Amino acid sequence: MADTAAQPFHIEPSPGGVGAFVHGIDLASDLSSNTVGVLRQALGDHCVLFFRDQKLTPDEHIAAAEAFGEINVNRFFARLLTHDKIALVVKEPGQKTNIGGNWHTDHSYDQIPAMGSMLLARETPTRGGDTLFANMYAAFDSLSEGLKETLCGLRAVHSSRHVFGADSAYVKGVNGRIGNPELATQDAVHPVIIRHPISGRQALYVNAGFTLHFEGWTEKESKPLLDMLYAHAARPEHTYRFQWAPGSIAFWDNRASWHYAVNDYHGARREMHRITLEGEALGA
Ligand code: SIN
Repeated sequence: MADTAAQPFHIEPSPGGVGAFVHGIDLASDLSSNTVGVLRQALGDHCVLFFRDQKLTPDEHIAAAEAFGEINVNRFFARLLTHDKIALVVKEPGQKTNIGGNWHTDHSYDQIPAMGSMLLARETPTRGGDTLFANMYAAFDSLSEGLKETLCGLRAVHSSRHVFGADSAYVKGVNGRIGNPELATQDAVHPVIIRHPISGRQALYVNAGFTLHFEGWTEKESKPLLDMLYAHAARPEHTYRFQWAPGSIAFWDNRASWHYAVNDYHGARREMHRITLEGEALGA
């Protein structure tokens, strides 16, 4: 059990519906096993942790991520030339399509989805380029008891094909930044309502990016209910909009949150370094 009384940093819930800010910590030097335990629990509780002014080298970024688990090198993202454990999330001034510009949670197309990602801002536009986060515990908790009961009996099929496969308009739009379309072969089935591995709470686990349909239902049959759930989960009271500056980090848990990179900074450059961590199979 982590000793929270002795911690030199403090955790402040965001003013929105998801996430918490961690103040008074240097991720390059302060990650004792006790601190990692406290932060892991906080991640499970708050869904996303935000850090400011982290002056991490790429090696320190990797070390900070590895303190929380094994790194999952995403097979589609371009990587930092010098550090292939770091995925590059870049939009150049001449590019129009950004990476992650819709509500999604990463890797739900894997049968063992990644736990989360530690995204570090290297270069940010002077205005715009925020990321929205949404709370999937709140999305579940605020449904009616009747719909909760129905959803608890369902599983959903997720896929990477339509997003990262060769025919995807998105892959064409992010030309060169996303690759390996031949590896977009995964389909996975997960409970629609999962039991979160850290917090033990129930969370909604479908997302507009990767979920195709409910198991045993057609896409046409699934769409109205999925659309209703997507609109419900993205309600403002479930969300928080994070403003980046170089050195900011968002460390999110894919099982408890969605994210959405806002694409409102055409003509400016934004460079983020993402490290993704392995997760575990999800149960109801
Ligand atoms: C992502 O979806 O991983 C990118 C998020 C961001 O760039 O804000």
